[in-house]
Amino acid sequence: MEPSVEELIYLDNAATTWPKPESVYLAMVETYRRLGVNPGRSGYDKAIEAGDLLHDLRRRLTRFFGGDEDAPERLCFGYNATDALNLIIYGMVSRGDHIVTTNLEHNSVIRPVNHMVRDYGAEATYVPFDGNGFVDPEDIRKAIKPNTKLVIVNHGSNVIGTVQPLAEIGAVCRSKGVPFAVDTSQTAGAAPIDMTAMNIDAVAFTGHKSLMGCMGIGGICVRKDVDIRQTRSGGTGVRSAYPYHLEEYPYRLEYGSPNMVGVASLQASLDWLEASGGVDVIHAREMALTKRLLDGFAGIDGVITYCCDSLENHISTLIINVAGMDAGDVGIMLDVDFNIATRTGLHCAPLVHKQLGTDKIHGGVRFGIGPFNTEAHIDAAIEAMTEIAARARKAKNRMAVGQDER
Ligand SMILES: Cc1ncc(COP(=O)(O)O)c(C=O)c1O
Repeated sequence: MEPSVEELIYLDNAATTWPKPESVYLAMVETYRRLGVNPGRSGYDKAIEAGDLLHDLRRRLTRFFGGDEDAPERLCFGYNATDALNLIIYGMVSRGDHIVTTNLEHNSVIRPVNHMVRDYGAEATYVPFDGNGFVDPEDIRKAIKPNTKLVIVNHGSNVIGTVQPLAEIGAVCRSKGVPFAVDTSQTAGAAPIDMTAMNIDAVAFTGHKSLMGCMGIGGICVRKDVDIRQTRSGGTGVRSAYPYHLEEYPYRLEYGSPNMVGVASLQASLDWLEASGGVDVIHAREMALTKRLLDGFAGIDGVITYCCDSLENHISTLIINVAGMDAGDVGIMLDVDFNIATRTGLHCAPLVHKQLGTDKIHGGVRFGIGPFNTEAHIDAAIEAMTEIAARARKAKNRMAVGQDER
């Protein structure tokens, strides 16, 4: 039985998916109770079993991302996508190097890139997206310079939901000999990714969004012909007499004790994704709900949508505004008056809003649809937005009357 969402209509799945499958909650508790020892550090049976669970997840996720299946040790675990993106950016770029990235990025790319520029003398180019929310691979090609050492691109936007043409961008990077890294935070578990077919050298992932695991686990999958420098050091559980951090994977990019609750959650969530028909089936269901929501918004006077004329190459995330209303006020009304959870503001992706011009109106209202949303949730959101937009029109008319009378 899946957990009930009670009365709350949760449409903030782009921030984190909730609820999780019941099997994920159970696996977290039961595995940690039975097997919560430090994996791979000792030779007793439980430590070996925990190590096997961890290693098996490396194998499963390497396959999931289309990485090098003969090198599962190159799937390295960390806390989340932010952690992984920091390791990639600081570990692949040096003083004087140039980075190509896009206006679609989350702060977990923008900030480390900007720190590399401000604090370590790197250069960066932010490539804009077009009117429909897509980056043109030719613009990536034009941005690459002789000193470009990394192209790093968001796969699915956490603001406008567009999915970037990774295969085409990967082909450009390969032809130019520049490593290509991808932030899959919004797409892992929601849209197919194939590192080998798409010429991707490193992906950063997070466990708690569409992968349906818990918070506190994420990581990097790195292709065999690419290396990420170590930018941290510490315990690895093996070769303790060696005075420096180990260079071999996975230790190279892993520091300290792993998150075994997170490992258990991802093992169970991958089982759940497979049993539910796989990423394509879940994505198709979520996109049908997204279309229902978008069609509903289209019929509401005063609701403004962005970059969703077509839902092709899109994930189940939409942002909107209501003419004449602050996004934050709309979010509060949805929450307080209708018990609907959304996310308002700049969504940690300020350049998207700057390019859309929505930075001047405090961003937008984001609806993120997840696997446990239903048509009833969508219809309730449409009804609520109909009422909120009517309030906005009424307020506007009152102000106009007030002005006439003055
Ligand atoms: C596109 C994108 N990148 C990175 C992140 C960071 O993910 P985490 O908070 O799990 O590190 C997010 C989270 O919202 C995101 O949407």
